[in-house]
Amino acid sequence: MTQNEGAAQDELKEALPTGTHISPGIERIQEINREALAHPNEFWSKVAGDLYFSERVGPAFERIEDAPYGRWFSQWKTNLSYNCLDRWIGTDHQHRVAFHWEGEPGDQRSLTYLDLYREVNRFASILRDLGVKEGDRVTVYMPMIPEAVFAMMATVRLGAIHSVVFGGFTAQALADRINDSKSKVVVTADGGWRRGKIVELKKIVDQAVLQTPEVQKVLVVRRTGQPVDMDEDRDLWYHDAVKSAADYVAPVMVPGTHPSYILYTSGTTGKPKGACHSTAGYMVWLYYSTHAVFDITPRDLYWCTADIGWVTGHSYIIYGPTLRGATSFMYEGAADFPAWDRWWDMIQRHRVSILYTSPTAIRGFIKQGEKWPEKHDLSSLRIIGSVGEPINPEAWQWYYRHIGANRCTIVDTWWQTETGGILIAPQPGVAKYPLKPGSATFPLAGVKAVVVDDHGNPCPKGEKGFMTIQHPWPGQFMTLWGDHARYKQVYFSRFPGIYYAADFSMQDQDGYFWLLGRADEVMKVAGHRISTTEIEDALIMHPAVAESAVIGRKDEIKMEVPVACVILKPGFAPTPQLREELLVHVRNTMGPIAVPAQIYFVEKVPKTRSAKIMRRLIRDVVEERPLGDVTTLEDETSIEEAKRAYNELKADIDRART
Ligand code: WT7
Repeated sequence: MTQNEGAAQDELKEALPTGTHISPGIERIQEINREALAHPNEFWSKVAGDLYFSERVGPAFERIEDAPYGRWFSQWKTNLSYNCLDRWIGTDHQHRVAFHWEGEPGDQRSLTYLDLYREVNRFASILRDLGVKEGDRVTVYMPMIPEAVFAMMATVRLGAIHSVVFGGFTAQALADRINDSKSKVVVTADGGWRRGKIVELKKIVDQAVLQTPEVQKVLVVRRTGQPVDMDEDRDLWYHDAVKSAADYVAPVMVPGTHPSYILYTSGTTGKPKGACHSTAGYMVWLYYSTHAVFDITPRDLYWCTADIGWVTGHSYIIYGPTLRGATSFMYEGAADFPAWDRWWDMIQRHRVSILYTSPTAIRGFIKQGEKWPEKHDLSSLRIIGSVGEPINPEAWQWYYRHIGANRCTIVDTWWQTETGGILIAPQPGVAKYPLKPGSATFPLAGVKAVVVDDHGNPCPKGEKGFMTIQHPWPGQFMTLWGDHARYKQVYFSRFPGIYYAADFSMQDQDGYFWLLGRADEVMKVAGHRISTTEIEDALIMHPAVAESAVIGRKDEIKMEVPVACVILKPGFAPTPQLREELLVHVRNTMGPIAVPAQIYFVEKVPKTRSAKIMRRLIRDVVEERPLGDVTTLEDETSIEEAKRAYNELKADIDRART
């Protein structure tokens, strides 16, 4: 039993009713899980039965010969935007609100399903006039405004593929993603509001497109209103184009395995990976999981606080909730604007009943104190969720007490950009059972989650190992854009034939799953996924840097922050000015979330004999711990070598600290 688990179980007795461990709810969840695994065709065809397909030919699930991933609904035909929108038109549902939206300055908009349907059609008409066709890529670089929803849904309506790039990324990161996806159209806004300031998105696009020869058109939504440069041949205003837009654009029915979108995420090399999702499998997974986990009813107002630039925004702001006909709340800006009670104020005013956020946000609120939520009536809440990183039991307890009033169900949801939707989480829409603070509990239907050891053998209960998923599931991503070999290598070769999630995990004696953080060289910084190698590559590009090693150091709020060890080239002095310059350099190449919390100038970076950076050892030094377990260091690097490396680095860093 881990320390966390021990604490969690003690707390549990106090916070939650305990019963027998094998509660009927757990039995029910496990029964459904097994049912979907035993009969994937029948199970998922039945779920898909609620959705519209213009053709239903062939099996829901096919195994690919010699491949560990499946193909879902490959001969069925459908359209994602049709299922999110058209399906509601002409029914009792059409006048129900799809989104209540609030801008950071306080402006508000509400769109019914009929409103959203109209706007998405018009947006699709504009994109079609710009030459966007089935299979084309459209990059979306937008603030959190309703037009971002229009742009994404309009793209999939045309059978085209969107690539949303988070609005916090730099021009360089944006240009790389535009080029990799070969987008010919970019959708952006003049700017967005963040802490009372304008984030000048159009300006960043202007810089990016200098390096993207394939971009033909940039469509610009007016949001903030400050003057922007418009290139007469390339740029057009949305508010002008929409005047002559058609009110209806027929949705393009595409095969189930047609890509719906690409979303770039960090891996263990410097080059981001374009996770590519299907249409039908993805859709069915969201339709199912949104209900199982969030249990949204017509009385609910659901709010997911993620940004549309991340997969959580794609799956649980845009597609999942509209597939269920839910009413969502959406917010543009920062949590602390104008003050730290902005969220709680909005929850009270709009009567939000389901809140989905991240451990980082929760820890940020803990630091500001209970006085902020206490000022507001949060009694409308009934389900509160968490995603993006492990939630520590202390944060779980605070969330439960101070936001959930010891009453709400906490859904700790484990999944990844690659998985398309939630794989392991409490499922109040299916069955209720006792929760354990810090555990994501049990897998959803058809998710064969197995914790394995180094050799791929299942770990005994209570033992930490690697999370694997040993059967395909509908929401599984289909490939890495333009690099299927990397897809197979990264995800299906560590343990041949099964999906390697690169997370540590443990199943406790009661069968509950605990997700224990990344097992690869990817950091989780405030819930954002950042590759250590990517920051190293950025640092190396600076003329003063000979070599660098980046690790994630524990952080009270963000969980991890990057810390860099840098070896300078001869002739460069380790001055505070140079340190500052390197920080600015990383900010300009990768964006603010990648900026190291600390840079140490060192003489040497500890490496194994096969030249792999010894990140665990560096972490021990940086976090001021004695040298930890070195027995599992790759290759034959000896304990003596590791000790020497530890002492050398420690001397360097001690010197740098003083
Ligand atoms: C990684 C995936 C899932 C959408 C947002 C993040 C970590 C995510 C949990 C959780 C423990 C979690 C994992 C995973 N993670 N949710 N509930 N408990 N860890 O997507 O950026 O692709 O990151 O986030 O380490 O591998 P992502």
